[in-house]
Formats: sequence, C-alpha cells, structure tokens
Amino acid sequence: LPPVIAIDGPSASGKGTLAGIVAQTLGWHQLDSGMLYRLSALAVMRKGILPTHEAEIAEVARNLDVRFVGQQVLLDNDDVSDALRQEEVGALASQIATYPLLRQALFERQRAFRKAPGLVADGRDMGTVIFPDAKLKVFLIADVDERAQRRYKQLIEKGISANLSALLEDLKARDERDMHRSHAPLVPAQDAKIIDSSTLSIEESVAKVLAYWAE
Ligand code: CDP
Repeated sequence: LPPVIAIDGPSASGKGTLAGIVAQTLGWHQLDSGMLYRLSALAVMRKGILPTHEAEIAEVARNLDVRFVGQQVLLDNDDVSDALRQEEVGALASQIATYPLLRQALFERQRAFRKAPGLVADGRDMGTVIFPDAKLKVFLIADVDERAQRRYKQLIEKGISANLSALLEDLKARDERDMHRSHAPLVPAQDAKIIDSSTLSIEESVAKVLAYWAE
C-alpha cells in the first residue's frame, strides 16, 4: 500500500495549509477529510434533511456525488467551492461529525484516496481511525487564542467581517465537541509526533514534518 502521512489536530491549527504544502513538496495526493464532512453538511442542508436525522444523513454521505476538477469541488455537478467555506456549513459539519453512522459512511471514501506515490491526509482521526498504519502521524496543535487570531486574519483578508471574541468562543466550543464526542474523538495517536505551531511559521512547520518523514 502507498505510504500515508496523517496530520490531525483541532480547528484552525493550520493542518490544511501544512498538508497541502507537504503533499505538493513530495508530489503526493492530498485528502482534506474535513471537506467531506462539509460536503455532507451542505448536501444535508440542500436536501432539507433535519440535522438530527442521523441515518438519513449517513445515507446522503454514502451517496455523495462529488468530483474534484482542478481547484473546484463539484457537488451534484454544481461548483460548491465557495459554499463549502460558509460558517453555517462548518457549524453543521462539526455537529453531524459526532454521528457514528456518518463517520462509517465516509470511511471507505476516505481510504480510497490512498494512491501511489503516497497520500497526505488531514483531519481529526486520520492517524487513529482511517489510516492507523500511516508511516508518519503528526498531531498539530496551537494555542486557542493564536488559532482565533489566524482565522480572524484569514477572514478579514478575504473581505469577510469577523468578530474575534465570537471566533474564539466558537473554536472553544468546536474543540469541546471534537475532543469529547464518544466516537472517534480528537486525540493524538499513540505514535504521533506532536507539533505545536503556536510560535512557528508555516515554513517551519513544513520543515518539521519533512524532517520527521526523512528520519
Ligand atoms: O474549520 P475546521 O478546521 O473546524 O473544520 P474542517 O477541517 O473543515 O472540518 C469540518 C468539521 O468536520 C470539523 O468541525 C470536525 O468536527 C469534523 N471533522 C471530523 O470530525 N473528522 C475529520 N477527519 C475531519 C473533520
């Protein structure tokens, strides 16, 4: 099987950016697993399914019609790249990600991303549940205030108005949900390398991961 580098960590820890650069540097495939949870959330919203209907939500996820065309993400042939970034979509994703049936429904879809020459996968349970045999497992953390600042800057740069203290509260609530859900909670794999990016630049985090990979 092709090698996997798993990068897990809390919301806004910089996993996605890190995973993207590492994948590009190595010439590997990339799996942004959070996007599959967001896609499921968006599909649920569009179909008008209630957020409490776990079985129906899992069914929607199992049958997601998704295509990746360059940088675009198509859901039922509709470009949803922008819609996926909406706050409501992220909030619903975080809520439904607690459902074991949904996580099961996305299990094989995630594993199918493992292709030669290798895969860099980021999320919450890449190293613990989806790719427990990953060659390298990274658990990326950062101080919650720092994460709120980063997300704030990101939004402002995109011209989206944001409120720092609301973002901070939201991140704390998301951390709570991610860490304390009964199924696949956010915890480092036993063999994970913990990287605290609070005081690291993106380049420094990338360098750390590549150094672990070269070990
Ligand atoms: O914006 P944020 O980093 O919180 O989210 P994301 O990575 O786009 O993922 C959306 C939601 O899906 C998160 O709030 C997580 O609760 C959930 N998720 C998960 O449970 N397991 C994964 N492997 C990836 C995401």
